[in-house]
Amino acid sequence: MARLTPPRPLTAEDDRTTFDCGREALNNWFWRHAWHNQEASVSRTSVVCDTQAGEIVGYVSLSAAQIERAWLAKSHQRNRPDPIPAVLLGQLAIDWRYQGRGYARSLMFFALTTAVHLSEQVGCFCVLTHPLDDEVRAFYGSFGFEELPFDPGRSMAIRINDLKHNGIGTNLRTDFG
Ligand SMILES: CC(C)(COP(=O)(O)OP(=O)(O)OC[C@H]1O[C@@H](n2cnc3c(N)ncnc32)[C@H](O)[C@@H]1OP(=O)(O)O)[C@@H](O)C(=O)NCCC(=O)NCCS
Repeated sequence: MARLTPPRPLTAEDDRTTFDCGREALNNWFWRHAWHNQEASVSRTSVVCDTQAGEIVGYVSLSAAQIERAWLAKSHQRNRPDPIPAVLLGQLAIDWRYQGRGYARSLMFFALTTAVHLSEQVGCFCVLTHPLDDEVRAFYGSFGFEELPFDPGRSMAIRINDLKHNGIGTNLRTDFG
């Protein structure tokens, strides 16, 4: 089992070119856009690295977002602003050489914990994601994300209050370091 660094912000010095999660769209975004977006403050990418090999093992990116109120279940539409504030979990990926060892789970807990902490200062209703396909949908579903019932794009989300109810954000639950 490799030893990993705790999640930290992506830097200009990080070599992104060796990273390969096996999915072209996520590789391309990471290679070409992650650093520019970081510089422009339009997304925040955190990485975990192999302490021995020094290479990037995985990354997750978060941004501010909003959801049309009409996409939510009717019970969540009442007395809510339109649009509704959210945190976007844009991408989460693990290099194929490190997959299947629980690192995505740890990175997900880091991202969800970060969102809960953010929500203490800046109001947001949920963590939102746009799964690429049904396999990724199943991955997010295993963490409690549910489809927004009236979104034609089939985004998935998990409510901040549900995360708090399940103890996310009360301490930093990651297995790194
Ligand atoms: C999906 C991905 C992040 C999983 O990484 P990983 O390191 O293998 O995942 P973990 O070992 O941490 O497993 C976490 C949990 O997700 C589940 N899981 C992993 N891959 C899955 C998949 N493709 N579909 C459904 N569930 C999946 C695991 O069974 C595990 O659940 P468990 O703890 O109950 O057994 C990785 O395969 C990847 O980077 N794929 C390419 C990019 C991608 O599709 N990202 C999806 C989000 S944008």
